[in-house]
Amino acid sequence: MSVRIICDRVVKKYGEAVIIPDLSLEIKEGEFFTLLGPSGCGKTTLLRMIAGFNSIEGGTIKFNDSVINDLAPGKRNIGMVFQNYAIFPHMNVWKNVAFGLTNRNLPKDDIAKRVDKMLATVRIEQFKDRMPERLSGGQQQRVALARAIVIEPDVLLMDEPLSNLDAKLRVEMRNAIKEIQKTVNITTVYVTHDQEEAMAVSDRIAIMKDGVIQHIGTPKEIYKRPANMFVATFIGHSTILDGALKQTGSGPELSIGDYRVAMGTVPGFDGGETKVKVSVRPEEFYIGDDDAGLKGVITSSVLLGFYTENFIKLENGSFIKFIVDEKTGHREFNAGDRVTLKVYPEKINIFDETGAKSLSAPAGISK
Ligand SMILES: Nc1ncnc2c1ncn2[C@@H]1O[C@H](COP(=O)(O)OP(=O)(O)OP(=O)(O)O)[C@@H](O)[C@H]1O
Ligand SMILES: [Mg+2]
Repeated sequence: MSVRIICDRVVKKYGEAVIIPDLSLEIKEGEFFTLLGPSGCGKTTLLRMIAGFNSIEGGTIKFNDSVINDLAPGKRNIGMVFQNYAIFPHMNVWKNVAFGLTNRNLPKDDIAKRVDKMLATVRIEQFKDRMPERLSGGQQQRVALARAIVIEPDVLLMDEPLSNLDAKLRVEMRNAIKEIQKTVNITTVYVTHDQEEAMAVSDRIAIMKDGVIQHIGTPKEIYKRPANMFVATFIGHSTILDGALKQTGSGPELSIGDYRVAMGTVPGFDGGETKVKVSVRPEEFYIGDDDAGLKGVITSSVLLGFYTENFIKLENGSFIKFIVDEKTGHREFNAGDRVTLKVYPEKINIFDETGAKSLSAPAGISK
């Protein structure tokens, strides 16, 4: 059985240091939920609280309707996978996976059936008699995953399970993890500081900074309408520009230097005139057919296969990254060329002057 996890006003302190001041979130049954944020922001701390290895200084954590704050880790029915695979070096693959079941005194036939099925699910049947030292990192991580899932936990917790693997294997394993999670359908909390990995595997992501959640949403929501400037720059690349927003007869108008963009609507803007921060992603600029836009000079232009990456120095000295899809049959770009860039109004993200709050996000965005 899989459960819903509810964290309600959770507090974590180590002595006087407050690591998590006041955190609330709800993870749905069967969901693949990722905690993402820079090093030291409290991801592992929160995961260990859900696991029961860390005390809770305030608030409640529930699995479905039961408060588990004081429940011993062994009674929470969780499976865990860590960065260092933590599989037993003196047991072969089959015995490693069987361990959690033999420990529970289940009938031998039953154990054999479940272990064989799990080895097939994570695709390591052919290594079942091997000792861990003769497995690659990715294969060892599959063993660790099988061992965590075979006990049929209510919750699967994973802390940076792929960070010891090389780049290519990381991509292969993250696809495998996502596929296996969907097959077994166990509520999963996954910790990583790799934003691309989080985007690839998650149903929803919570972006954390200094123990505080900045934004919770699907990868697409977070990428397209980040809740604040920190999220905009942490997920993917964003150019941040200074601008001003002004109410005109035909709606809000954004100006960035001399460039004016009619915005249609800006849900969080109350009218008048205000300074703002503007964030634009490299694929959201285009070369227009008139003279209006951000003017600058290309400082470098590099073909990277699917796209060309250009860096442009604007007249005010700031830099923009601008990529062009190679499928579009665009003109040649060379260092030294003068260009005028426009932005699609619906793609622009506008924040208040401090960058703390999005004005572009729809009202009621989950934070
Ligand atoms: N046992 C402890 N005692 C005191 N402080 C701790 C303890 N464990 C963690 N911390 C502090 O809590 C903060 C959050 O640590 P945590 O390990 O949760 O970060 P993280 O987000 O998992 O980072 P990383 O990506 O580097 O693993 C850090 O400032 C850390 O120094
Ligand atoms: Mg950590």
